[in-house]
Amino acid sequence: MNADARPRTPLDLAAMKAAGRKIVMLTCYDATFARLIAAEVDVLLVGDSVNQVVAGRETTLGVTVDQLVYHARAVRRGAPDALLLVDLPFLSYQVSVEEAIRNAGHVLMETGCQGVKLEGGRPMVPTVRALVERGIPVMAHLGLTPQSVHTLGGYRVQGRDAATAERMLADARELEDAGAFGVLLELVPARLAARITEALAVPTVGIGAGAGCDGQVLVLHDMLGLNETFSPKFLKRFATLASAVRGAARAYADEVRQGRYPDADHSFD
Ligand code: KIV
Repeated sequence: MNADARPRTPLDLAAMKAAGRKIVMLTCYDATFARLIAAEVDVLLVGDSVNQVVAGRETTLGVTVDQLVYHARAVRRGAPDALLLVDLPFLSYQVSVEEAIRNAGHVLMETGCQGVKLEGGRPMVPTVRALVERGIPVMAHLGLTPQSVHTLGGYRVQGRDAATAERMLADARELEDAGAFGVLLELVPARLAARITEALAVPTVGIGAGAGCDGQVLVLHDMLGLNETFSPKFLKRFATLASAVRGAARAYADEVRQGRYPDADHSFD
């Protein structure tokens, strides 16, 4: 990869880290948004957050492999050249290593993505190793792991005390040794995320994990300001699309009700 080229494969992300280039990642769930954003970022992630922002559910639990495949195919159609990662949903990789291989392989083959992401520390090390050894690139996910929201007691910052911080650092090292090409850090104190980032050769990508990570990721709908009720401290809205969407719907409704749309310019002779 030359100095400022876009990453093509998961391994290019380590080269970006080595070159001191920040990795820019966004979630994406459909072809329309993929077309709009692919050229601006380094990585698209079809996150299991689709279950919340698109399907309107409370948690990421309940989305299936097939549903993620459906969304990932749409994203791939919209962004044929993007470096595309897809989340493995809850229970698609935790039951056994065999199931993890089958599900991750299915996702890779059916979507044209270049890697999968899965959540968890030390218990996931054998799974990560098995996937990588079989040709499936894996990004690990530590800190707040949303699929474990019920055992974590809510969406809280993780690793605030010394013991959990040390465990997270050790887990990150073991996941790297197992072959993970990167580690996503979610809701982690900035100093701990920076420590983990320094300890690894593979890149970290943070969400709510401060500026010391090698890259950043946000949920697309959140950073576009489409979700007005979700305002965690880490979230910066880079647009205010909720009011734009509401305004457009209102203007359309007004014109239809008043008989101003469609006018002659928007009708056929
Ligand atoms: O599913 C998702 O959106 C994620 C975020 C942490 C980026 O994994």
